[in-house]
Amino acid sequence: MSLSDQINTQYNKRSSKAHLYQRSPYSDAVQSELKATAKQLLTSTFKDLSKVKLLEIGAGNGTNAYFFEEMGVKLENISFNELIGERLNNIKSGFPNNKLYEGDATHVQFPEKYDIVFQSTVFTSILNDNDRKALADKMWSLLNPGGVILWYDFIYNNPKNADVKKVDIAEVRSLFNKCSNFTIKKITLAPPIGRKVGKFYHLFNVPFLRSHILALFQNGNG
Ligand SMILES: C[S@@+](CC[C@H](N)C(=O)[O-])C[C@H]1O[C@@H](n2cnc3c(N)ncnc32)[C@H](O)[C@@H]1O
Repeated sequence: MSLSDQINTQYNKRSSKAHLYQRSPYSDAVQSELKATAKQLLTSTFKDLSKVKLLEIGAGNGTNAYFFEEMGVKLENISFNELIGERLNNIKSGFPNNKLYEGDATHVQFPEKYDIVFQSTVFTSILNDNDRKALADKMWSLLNPGGVILWYDFIYNNPKNADVKKVDIAEVRSLFNKCSNFTIKKITLAPPIGRKVGKFYHLFNVPFLRSHILALFQNGNG
């Protein structure tokens, strides 16, 4: 099965569970922690975020763009990639003036390079190790000198969801083994706990209860 077929099949099942992904005190706390940590990493790497060009791989409906815009990245400097038809349509209507590259990112011919290539919970949807390595290599190849991969994904398996598979820290390191300049931060209070504690997120958010990492891998030729 091609990677595109695998992802489309998985997400057809998932759309019936869309109600599970609604906004809540937990999801708000996750987003604000993610944004603060990403901003800290990116502002210590780039002097002026208004000048960077960013590509999001597997951008879903494209809404992470607002997160980067609030941080200082110009909306017009954000490009998207996605492969699911319905999500592509949402990106087209929400961001009609932005560049959108359709299809499996591993095979898309991107005509330019970027300062930030971002992925959020894309790799855990990809179950085959060779597909993961091919996409990681593709992302690395799209960096400008001094550019960075920004990575957000989970590092533990979810026993209730066989359609996704963790990418632990050792695997992330091996996907970008060409890179010697990197930062990896454990973030995000694990969902089963976070959903229960809701607005008390910050009281429980200690490293051993965190389920995701935010990582930055810099191309050292800057
Ligand atoms: C869990 S969703 C996350 C969407 C978005 N990144 C976010 O943070 O909300 C993963 C997305 O990655 C996309 N995806 C997975 N593999 C891909 C690939 N090889 N090329 C392009 N998109 C891909 C899926 O279609 C899906 O929309």
